[in-house]
Amino acid sequence: MDQERTPYFQALLEYVDSGVLPFHTPGHMQGRGADRSFREFVGDNILAIDLTPMPGIDDLLQPTESILEAQELAAEAYGADHTFFLINGSTSGNQCMMMAALNPGEKIAVPRNSHKSMLGGLVMSGAHPIYMQPAVDQEMHMDNAVTPETVERTMHEHPDLKAIYIVSPTYYGVAADLAEIVRIAHERDKLVLVDEAWGPHFNFHPALPVSATEAGADLCINSTHKMLSAFSQCAMLHQIGDRVRLDRLKSVLKMFLSTSPNLPMVASLDVARRQMATQGAALLSQTIELAQETRRRLNQIEGVYSFGEEIQGREGVFDLDPTKVTVRVTGLGYTGYEASALLRRRYNIQVELADLFNVVALFTIGTTPEAAERFVTAFEELARDDRAVDIYAPSGILEQRLKRGTYHLPAIPPMRMLPRDAFLADTDVVAFRESAGRICAETISPYPPGIPVICPGEEISEELIDYLRLELKAGVRIQGPNDDELRTIRVVR
Ligand SMILES: Cc1ncc(COP(=O)(O)O)c(C=O)c1O
Repeated sequence: MDQERTPYFQALLEYVDSGVLPFHTPGHMQGRGADRSFREFVGDNILAIDLTPMPGIDDLLQPTESILEAQELAAEAYGADHTFFLINGSTSGNQCMMMAALNPGEKIAVPRNSHKSMLGGLVMSGAHPIYMQPAVDQEMHMDNAVTPETVERTMHEHPDLKAIYIVSPTYYGVAADLAEIVRIAHERDKLVLVDEAWGPHFNFHPALPVSATEAGADLCINSTHKMLSAFSQCAMLHQIGDRVRLDRLKSVLKMFLSTSPNLPMVASLDVARRQMATQGAALLSQTIELAQETRRRLNQIEGVYSFGEEIQGREGVFDLDPTKVTVRVTGLGYTGYEASALLRRRYNIQVELADLFNVVALFTIGTTPEAAERFVTAFEELARDDRAVDIYAPSGILEQRLKRGTYHLPAIPPMRMLPRDAFLADTDVVAFRESAGRICAETISPYPPGIPVICPGEEISEELIDYLRLELKAGVRIQGPNDDELRTIRVVR
């Protein structure tokens, strides 16, 4: 196929050029009725292509023309048999994968460090999760990927598993041995679904980890908006082979899509694919080089550490995405949260993620050498500061946490009900402190990175209460519960 083509974007441009008089949605009528200040800021063009499915402009729900071709071009670029555009992120991708592949009660092995949107997939599909503990790097204070050995053991312990779900890469850019996991899973006739939200660029550069499509996963999802140039919310779902029924997958996608998709978003997927297919290798080479050079310079600053190839080969670290620059800041006397706030306040720099120990910066095809320079300079200055409060002091939160060993992930709580049944059950609201022994009806995920500590259907324990209260004290935001501050929690009545 001609990867220079952008059939869908072209279809929108042709509609604009033809000067059709609109009597259709959206109500702003190509910008004529838009709020003036908004229109002045965003410009006329984006409003002119904010249209609706109609003749000449294909329908994302039932593509037969330009969207069909755009999706086929994407499938070719990603080495998939079928590709579908998503406009509600990998969040909807996770939901669609599980709804397409699983019936209520069927078992799926899922890593405990999955993004919380995986839980949405479990609740909607009614599938029965078997949780796999990812490898944890105690030195780096980081959850890594699930290993083939863990997958093998889980398949052995649960021979009735229907599917294996893998998250790769992690938020920190750690990639799993997907090719081996797919091989052993297919050998036992299990489906492999991969959440590759953070790896939409893997297919386009040889220095990046093997992608899920290259590894032969049955279904996988990419957040095209995260690491490539598509608009926020834009993602893709790829299918390889026919282990998952295509007709069912298509019906599920239709159920999840709005009947009024945002067309500039769809067009941004079309052009992001062209950009990668035609210039990806060159653009990503520059990005990778810049990230590696930044990492090298950061590691020359006392108190700062940004991991790289030296951790490859540790448990759960099969490969690394060099474009994620994780900076450990505890040696400077800061928690990741504090460093993130300082970077913003003092240097007007916003990172993607902060945790207790690290900040994570994304390096993408949009990161310039000037931006990288400012990033390094900020750390050089932070390192020169005299830190008044030593977080390693006995009263410091980090010290407390390390001493108590609470970084060690709490044990996975026993599952008393399926996530779907608990989520839909009648509930009581009780004080979180006094909730030990009750069955949780919500998902409790410190965010970022959004890894659930308690899932719907699991029994709450004193250990979990202690762990989460410490997280809250350290300034971690908790997502999932009705009560953001987690003073109360919804439990099954
Ligand atoms: C591993 C993983 N999967 C899925 C998602 C959801 O992706 P999106 O924001 O595209 O809906 C995220 C978001 O951070 C994620 O980290």
